[in-house]
Amino acid sequence: MKKPYLRAFGGKEAATYPISEVRYRSDDGRTLEVDNCLTPLAAKQASALRALFDKRLMSRKPLDKSGVWRYREFLPAFKPFDAVVTMEEGNTTIFDMPQCARFCGMTSLLAKHQGLNPTGSFKDNGMTTAVTMAKKLGATMVACASTGNTSASMAAYAARAGMMSVVFIPDGQIAYGKLSQSLDYGALTIQIEGDFDKAMEIVEDLCNRGTIYLLNSINPFRIEGQKTIMIEMLHQLGWKAPDWVIVPGGNLGNSSSFGKAFDEMLRANFIKKAPKIAVIQAQGANPLYNSFISGDRTLKPVHANTRATAIKIGNPVSFDKAWFAVESTGGIVEQVSEEEIAIAKSKVGRDGVGSEPASATTIAGCRKLVEKGIIRKSDNAVCILTGHLLKDPDYTVEFHRDELYLDAQRTTTLSGTQRISTGGNGNKPVKLPADANKIMSFIDKWNSSK
Ligand code: F0G
Repeated sequence: MKKPYLRAFGGKEAATYPISEVRYRSDDGRTLEVDNCLTPLAAKQASALRALFDKRLMSRKPLDKSGVWRYREFLPAFKPFDAVVTMEEGNTTIFDMPQCARFCGMTSLLAKHQGLNPTGSFKDNGMTTAVTMAKKLGATMVACASTGNTSASMAAYAARAGMMSVVFIPDGQIAYGKLSQSLDYGALTIQIEGDFDKAMEIVEDLCNRGTIYLLNSINPFRIEGQKTIMIEMLHQLGWKAPDWVIVPGGNLGNSSSFGKAFDEMLRANFIKKAPKIAVIQAQGANPLYNSFISGDRTLKPVHANTRATAIKIGNPVSFDKAWFAVESTGGIVEQVSEEEIAIAKSKVGRDGVGSEPASATTIAGCRKLVEKGIIRKSDNAVCILTGHLLKDPDYTVEFHRDELYLDAQRTTTLSGTQRISTGGNGNKPVKLPADANKIMSFIDKWNSSK
């Protein structure tokens, strides 16, 4: 059996490099991916592997308990598995979402909540693998640029592995829940003037000088771990592929990893059919959408602006890989407005689940694609909720108070165009006197108005 290696993504004569070589791009500037050299499985082997995954659900071994490493046959680049840094990541719930289904005009709708990970976002699926590789490569210091979740996850896993971590965040543009995490986990937290795209440029430059190991999703070992989100999803669904998987698009690492997961599982004869991938971007941060609509595959960066700060990214690193994910599965790219995101987020809350704003693009996008007749009412769709509701409490409170503005600092005009409407979905807190009778009559009135 051939051993996994790194390969430049795209291009006819793809350059290759050994796994042990620390590099983030090919000499001609392409992103890299792991070629796992997986061999096709006979039907019997595939069903034996599925049985093994089932058996591991009962195991008490750390590797089996992790929703990433449970599927390690699809992660051969990390062999031998003796340096694994795990926090039992993955294992995230798939919820039935009746309110959201009604909102989208679907018969039913599922949501896999990656916000239920140890640090509250899907980043943990890729961070366990990338920090494990950092350890194998002998790194003692790791870094990333982040809109907040990558940094939270990296800081946590680096702390577990006994490594120093340095995070670069756009000044004043990340949610407090996320900032508090990287501080608490002990990362050197550098707020830089400029946006995420600028921070990304600087951190790549610094890491290319050596000594610091880069853990953004340009790192191909992040993508490897994030693949297991889809493997776990199919496992939870009894290996029955839904018609659609709907995912938010920012730096486009997640959508890329989903495309790679399905490609590898199909090539290995492990599944017979892949879901279509729908990538949803915020209208104010939509370079993949623009490219998809125009058919022009060259990345034209945009100056990003959205209150869904997690996806406030105008120059995504994994642009080409995301194109592959969409194209190879017969999927689609859609964009949604600030108001559509905000209202969809309130619906996720009404299902008793909740998410951070970026995750709600999936519900908003699903509704739009149903309206357009691209997703059918009776289709099976799974929305990927990428981050926990408590990551960005300011957004939620501002929304329910009807005080959500596109410009979070409100340095510009407070005129109507800047306010993001609740569409009647707000749930304002009420102030009442400390008087039981008055409170009871208020509750009665509130109840009968429902
Ligand atoms: N949803 C959430 C909650 C995110 O934090 C991110 C990305 C995305 C969606 C988009 O995923 O980049 O793989 O397309 N956050 C990164 C960060 C960029 O720094 O935390 P993507």
